[in-house]
Amino acid sequence: MDIGIDLISFHTPSYYLDLRVLAERRGVDPDKFVIGVGQERMAIPPPDQDIVTLAANAALPVVEKAGRDGIGLLLFATESGIDQSKAAALFCHGLLGLPPECRCVELKEACYGGTAALRLAAAMVAANPSMKALVLAADIARYDLGSSGEPTQGAGAVAMLVTANPRVMALDPETGVHAEDIMDFWRPNYRAEAFVDGKYSTRMYLTTLIPAWKAYAAASGRTLADHAHLAFHMPFTKIAWKSLSRLCRAEGVPEPSAGEAARLLGPATVWNRITGNTYSACVHEGLCSLLDNAPEPLDGRRIGFFSYGSGCMAEFYSGVVRPGYRGHVFTDLHRAMLENRTELTYRQYEDIFNYGVPQDGGDHVFAPYRGGPFRLAGINGHKRRYEPR
Ligand code: CAA
Repeated sequence: MDIGIDLISFHTPSYYLDLRVLAERRGVDPDKFVIGVGQERMAIPPPDQDIVTLAANAALPVVEKAGRDGIGLLLFATESGIDQSKAAALFCHGLLGLPPECRCVELKEACYGGTAALRLAAAMVAANPSMKALVLAADIARYDLGSSGEPTQGAGAVAMLVTANPRVMALDPETGVHAEDIMDFWRPNYRAEAFVDGKYSTRMYLTTLIPAWKAYAAASGRTLADHAHLAFHMPFTKIAWKSLSRLCRAEGVPEPSAGEAARLLGPATVWNRITGNTYSACVHEGLCSLLDNAPEPLDGRRIGFFSYGSGCMAEFYSGVVRPGYRGHVFTDLHRAMLENRTELTYRQYEDIFNYGVPQDGGDHVFAPYRGGPFRLAGINGHKRRYEPR
């Protein structure tokens, strides 16, 4: 019996900063960001959006299309948690009107959390194929102003319905994982911005790719040539090209031509280039991008995925796109959302960055900004209050 992604949807805030504007302010050649790092725009969440609203906004089209009955598991992956105790999954459970017979949990391992949630959900569905699982991954990537990580900020969420006999992608059972205890990127509970050793984190990403790939290849007997496309975790899109070249060297196969590399990698990077890093949502934002932008039909094609979470966890896995998937994807919704975003000035970006979350327990009401169907209306007595728009 196949288990996998029955429906998948992606959401990003309605505001962005063009990285050429940031480059000018930072006195950097714009080509460094656009060509060297491979990013053009970064999504900026206004004060009335957080991980809960981003995830609920991503999930609404999925639950409206599939119905709410039978959703018995809701896993929420994030490293931008809003509460140390209550799971973000429960806020979404309420907003989405899910049934009470639903196990709701939040989980974390940096950017790997979305993949962990997907694999756990698939295992739970395999044990009980009549159950459906909703996997949400949402993050807001924040680094200090002026830091090397600043141009790789972003925000977004992915919602995946995991079922037996899925309509979009059947997951292959073979995976390869690699774990190591390192400090390459971390955010202590008292900080709103992450600390990162940028070069070390990039080196560890590329280093752990190889044991994860080798374990996957040994378990599955597959080679790189068995994958029609590759979707990598993308803290910045240039890393997909670095990863492919690292994999080819490890396999002892010639690196593909520039055209072939663009064919293999390009479609999965289109959305990330204009949203920035979405941490735990990133690799499956890449899947949405691939499903929405691949020039050829993907029916029956195998896609390889590499997920990396600092700290660190790495996993290589794959899935096969189901025949007829095009009838079940949200391409038009994704395109319209991305085409209708509002560009911010540098000043507006900095004002939003510095806005902060009120911490005094008073009654705070947030002005409505543009966005998806749900918004954070305010905070009162340290409780967040969400509402439909
Ligand atoms: N024109 C074209 N290219 C240019 C250029 C120009 N004018 N100037 C520089 N470049 C190129 C450089 O040659 C370099 O390319 P290569 O890597 O191919 O050599 C690229 O632009 C970047 O230049 P630098 O390495 O000098 O950039 P930097 O040190 O300022 O920042 C970074 C790079 C360290 C990745 C930084 O973006 C960062 O700290 N990012 C956050 C951490 C991160 O994303 N880590 C990735 C792995 S960790 C992970 O995956 C988890 C996660 O999501 C955070």
